[in-house]
Amino acid sequence: MLKWRTAELCLYKRRGIERDAFPKLVELLKTFHEGRMAIQKVGVVGCGLMGSGIAQVAAHAGFTTIVREVSPEVVDKGLKGIDKNLARIVEKGTITEGQKAEIRGRLKGTTAVEDLKDCDVVIEAIIEQLPAKRELFAKLDAICPASTIFASNTSSLTITEIAAVTKRPERFVGLHFFNPVPVMKLVEVVRTIATDSDVYEEMVAFGAKLGKTPVRAHDSTGFIVNRLLVPYLLDAIRALEEGVGSIEDIDNSMKLGCGHPMGPLTLLDFVGLDTTYYIANIMFDEFRERRFASPPLLKRMVLAGWNGRKAGRGFYDYSDPQKPKAMNF
Ligand code: CAA
Repeated sequence: MLKWRTAELCLYKRRGIERDAFPKLVELLKTFHEGRMAIQKVGVVGCGLMGSGIAQVAAHAGFTTIVREVSPEVVDKGLKGIDKNLARIVEKGTITEGQKAEIRGRLKGTTAVEDLKDCDVVIEAIIEQLPAKRELFAKLDAICPASTIFASNTSSLTITEIAAVTKRPERFVGLHFFNPVPVMKLVEVVRTIATDSDVYEEMVAFGAKLGKTPVRAHDSTGFIVNRLLVPYLLDAIRALEEGVGSIEDIDNSMKLGCGHPMGPLTLLDFVGLDTTYYIANIMFDEFRERRFASPPLLKRMVLAGWNGRKAGRGFYDYSDPQKPKAMNF
């Protein structure tokens, strides 16, 4: 607003323009400015489980979308997953074949970070490791114009620390989506102490345009969801370690007693035990509270490579993915 008042004042100072014409002129300039600033092209870095989901919802919401992965094979794998998801919603009658083709027409894969240079927003969804994210954003910062907004889908790292590697910490937010992205309705929009208020509001509105319900969160490790979810998941493992109940009984208790769509141990397998272990360690490091400390069983399962559904084994054995069988430790 201040910007527009300043522009207005400058115009008032100029001779030869009727005073009555200024509000109209300011309005015109404002419309022009907003039109130019509106988000049209979205870049997504990472086409794994989260990145492909984000790319899918962005293209579905009408944005020209480009998604980058490290190799053509990984790009292909991600896009095939999106095709499968879109085919499923065509089958259900949620969208038509024509709409599916339009969505796919808006979505392109690439292996070159440089192809993201003309994006209005770039959302990063790569490996959950600080050095990798900082390296990527330093590169993007050099490639993208100053107007591009950067967002990280990190679930546990500090946004401020990632943003600090760029020259635009005021145009940097967290956009934390949930798995499976096309289904889960939430996006946490995270602001740091450096995020510009207008940029933040634009990202909250963008979250809604993606069809999600945006919630506002500060840059506190784990934001809202993982601050509450991670201790709950870790406690379910502790309950198992202490023999409070079996794997199935712990899961059924929360499903049938509390109406959760998945029990905590099934959810751990779904999210990935390695991912949860990693998040828990970051949160413990930050808060030094027992509730975020990884139980020994989780560490041992990760060391054994029993990382959950994606590894074929976690708290359940997925040899038959349709009928997971509880493990017998
Ligand atoms: N991609 C796209 N759509 C999917 C999908 C996927 N991977 N998996 C399921 N769906 C769709 C199905 O097509 C179906 O759609 P309709 O309702 O339109 O028919 C719907 O989701 C329900 O699927 P199903 O009937 O096959 O199975 P379900 O009823 O058991 O639901 C679920 C599956 C949505 C995953 C549900 O079990 C659930 O909500 N689980 C909890 C998930 C959760 O908590 N996620 C957050 C994890 S935490 C996180 O992501 C962040 C972090 O930082 C760790």
